[in-house]
Amino acid sequence: MDPRKTVRKAIIPVAGNGTRFLPATKAMPKEMLTIVDRPVVQYAVDEARQAGIEHIVFVTGRNKQVIEDHFDDTPELMSSLSRSGKTAQLSELENMLPVAGSVSFTRQQAPLGLGHAVWCARDLIGDEPFALLLPDMISYGAYGCMAGLVDLYSSTGGNVLGVEQCAPEDASKYGIVGKGISVPRGFAVTEMVEKPRAGEAPSNYYLNGRYILQPEIFDILHEQPRGAGNEIQLTDAMVTLAERQSFHAHPYEGRTFDCGCKHGFIEANVAFALDRPEISDLVYESLRDMVLSHERRGRAA
Ligand code: UTP
Repeated sequence: MDPRKTVRKAIIPVAGNGTRFLPATKAMPKEMLTIVDRPVVQYAVDEARQAGIEHIVFVTGRNKQVIEDHFDDTPELMSSLSRSGKTAQLSELENMLPVAGSVSFTRQQAPLGLGHAVWCARDLIGDEPFALLLPDMISYGAYGCMAGLVDLYSSTGGNVLGVEQCAPEDASKYGIVGKGISVPRGFAVTEMVEKPRAGEAPSNYYLNGRYILQPEIFDILHEQPRGAGNEIQLTDAMVTLAERQSFHAHPYEGRTFDCGCKHGFIEANVAFALDRPEISDLVYESLRDMVLSHERRGRAA
């Protein structure tokens, strides 16, 4: 296979249970929780498009129909906005509507793990490299992380992973990669370990939910037994693929918020709200007052 084959398609898996956000996610997908006024999944779609992705494959599950609706046309709403002269809202909805035929949906019948969700998209991806974006990980910075991966991929080919540095004591919470020789915009990956034991991590570079993978991963996933958490783990399959193909990492120069946990979700809302000119002053003042009053209460207690 040509190692520089263009990355045209992306998988966005949205079939997880979102148990860390219960009860909010009992009836609503966690990927539809909002950061300011846009659902989490919209940020991943926008990032993929900015990186040149032409076709997105969503791996959905039961109770996730609303995600499909979010990316569909809404003629009644559009004409109502048009009649009432709400042109800004109208053009925002028009811009986010995918080109017809550029989005596909497939089902993961049970959430058996990220590796299994990726495998479910194999026929829709076919024999070409693809991007994978975990939608609850949101890029925040001067450029979207996936654009950085595509850039690195154009010189290295093979498989490319998005990484960021964590505090060394936090390494056991993440998938961690070992750092080999440096290349422009990244480095060669020497090893990958999912949640290493304390003191055994090969570095503090953790996987931030952005990947470019070669299609040979599907055959490996097909044979992949269940791993940690009794789930089919993507990292286990990547370790097998690394015996045959190159892996490079792009250290993202922005920051990724983990919106799958409460703390990261609230941080992302604050960061994106402070960047929105129409509300940033109000948000800043409210936050400052809340922090000061929280500190005063703490001192008085
Ligand atoms: P997470 O592990 O963060 O999602 O997977 P989760 O399992 O829904 O979260 P918790 O731990 O129960 O709170 C990252 C992404 O992969 C998808 C999720 O929907 C999420 O967008 N995913 C995960 C699947 O599509 N299928 C799976 O079997 C697991």
